[in-house]
Amino acid sequence: MTTAQEFVPDDARTLDKLKAAAPSCKGCELYQDATQVVFGRGDAHARVVFVGEQPGDVEDQKGLPFVGPAGHLLRRAVDEAGIDPAHIYITNAVKHFRFEQRGKRRIHQTPDRVHIEACRPWLVAELSLLKPELIVVLGATAAKALLGPSFRVTRSRGELLPWPASAQHPEDFPVAEIQAMATIHPSAVLRADDRDAAFDGLVADLKVAARALAK
Ligand code: URA
Ligand code: SF4
Repeated sequence: MTTAQEFVPDDARTLDKLKAAAPSCKGCELYQDATQVVFGRGDAHARVVFVGEQPGDVEDQKGLPFVGPAGHLLRRAVDEAGIDPAHIYITNAVKHFRFEQRGKRRIHQTPDRVHIEACRPWLVAELSLLKPELIVVLGATAAKALLGPSFRVTRSRGELLPWPASAQHPEDFPVAEIQAMATIHPSAVLRADDRDAAFDGLVADLKVAARALAK
């Protein structure tokens, strides 16, 4: 089976220990062409965790999640919604960049289900250590990883969902009664015809998250 499981140390008690093990992962084939693994980062005591899709071109080169254009936009939206960007943790459903080489350009390719499933043990391990109060799921790939293949972001965005009741594999998440919320991916805002409207929509969803955290 294609899975990261055997590479994830089950005795890692800190995120740093977990992160230190990630470069050796060969849980799926994506490590072969990518520059490096891109692990989550942020406040280890964050009350809210953001889960994206996979690192992009810039993230792959820098080894850090959400440091390219989508990351800048996300931080701006988070700030505008009233959540302190210094107190969040950000990670991805898949930890290696998947792309297609065309000449000199590397074109982003959406990860397949096999990559999402293979990489889940890392995400599960991160969430198990972080024990956040709220998980913000960014876009369809993260939604597939966490909320199941039939979850539709367009239909259910901005709704607070009970967790782990809405989790795809509730048994994976030994996190007591928290909440999850899905919204669009910041890259979708960058691609939208009406960027301002899409950005405002993202901020409106994140305000739901901010209110949940204020309680
Ligand atoms: N998009 C993502 O989903 N994750 C990143 O880290 C960067 C862009
Ligand atoms: Fe391992 Fe995930 Fe990278 Fe695949 S994408 S090699 S499962 S870290």
